[in-house]
Amino acid sequence: MTKQPLPPSRNAAAVVTGAGSGIGRSFAYELARRGGVVICSDINEARAEQVAASIQALGSKAIPHRCDVGDAKEMAALSDEAEKLLGRPVTLVINNAGVGLGGPIGEVLLDDWRWCMNVNLWGVIHGCHFFAPKLRDLGYGGIINVASAAAFGAAPEMSTYNVTKAGVLALSETLAAELAGTGVNVTALCPTVVPTNIVNDGKLPEKRREFARAAMTRFALTTADKVARQTLDALDRGELYMLPQIDGLMAWRFKRLMPRLYTRIVGETYRLLAD
Ligand SMILES: NC(=O)c1ccc[n+]([C@@H]2O[C@H](COP(=O)([O-])OP(=O)(O)OC[C@H]3O[C@@H](n4cnc5c(N)ncnc54)[C@H](O)[C@@H]3O)[C@@H](O)[C@H]2O)c1
Repeated sequence: MTKQPLPPSRNAAAVVTGAGSGIGRSFAYELARRGGVVICSDINEARAEQVAASIQALGSKAIPHRCDVGDAKEMAALSDEAEKLLGRPVTLVINNAGVGLGGPIGEVLLDDWRWCMNVNLWGVIHGCHFFAPKLRDLGYGGIINVASAAAFGAAPEMSTYNVTKAGVLALSETLAAELAGTGVNVTALCPTVVPTNIVNDGKLPEKRREFARAAMTRFALTTADKVARQTLDALDRGELYMLPQIDGLMAWRFKRLMPRLYTRIVGETYRLLAD
């Protein structure tokens, strides 16, 4: 009898970008809990080291790593070094690193547009570009791209962020098509609000920061840990879309059915809540 391969989240040799905080940190912990070895990569070296150390303290193997996902050379180096650091070929990549940027179209500085596009979109492009061929050659494993409900939600004053996440979703769908039947699963994670550091660390007008912080506590229907668990389970089932919250699911369906009405209601509701 031929032995069935393990689901990709089990005993993985994994790379997680943006693992120093929030959803990325939860992915790293959960992969360790599932028997894996994890490279905890982050642009913030101290955070990467802290997460890796606390995973090691639980008796699992985690390797801290500093890398800016927006830098193609650094991502190429990570993909070259990963097998050596892990002690075996990479089986799972989680392109998670991301930053927040808010403000009305026309007021967001173009340099800030470039910064956010570089991390959120180019970071995931780099992760797919350098790791997908290795996984395809291996014929086993998974790629999780962290998009957002912003990919389809059209939330006002989040244009840059929305554009980057729509790009991540399109990239993930295409990657899933290209890798279909190869043994490599692809999942795009699309959460709404998850309490993390993204608002504190992001760039948004001060008058909106308080609103965004309040939304994080008031509207968060989940936690980063739960999202990580659900997404790894979705990857194991071969699901392309992971929408972990009911508000995201409702927005996804409503917009597909009535896009013009949806956009008007979103805009008017935002003005009511934020002004
Ligand atoms: N928190 C939410 O409500 C929410 C909702 C939908 C999607 N997301 C997405 O989840 C992902 C994780 O965000 P989070 O909410 O956990 O935020 P977070 O701020 O808590 O964590 C993001 C991590 O990414 C790292 N990072 C930032 N720029 C980087 C770069 N250039 N290279 C490498 N690492 C970098 C940060 O140092 C930080 O450790 C992001 O892609 C974000 O867009 C978050």
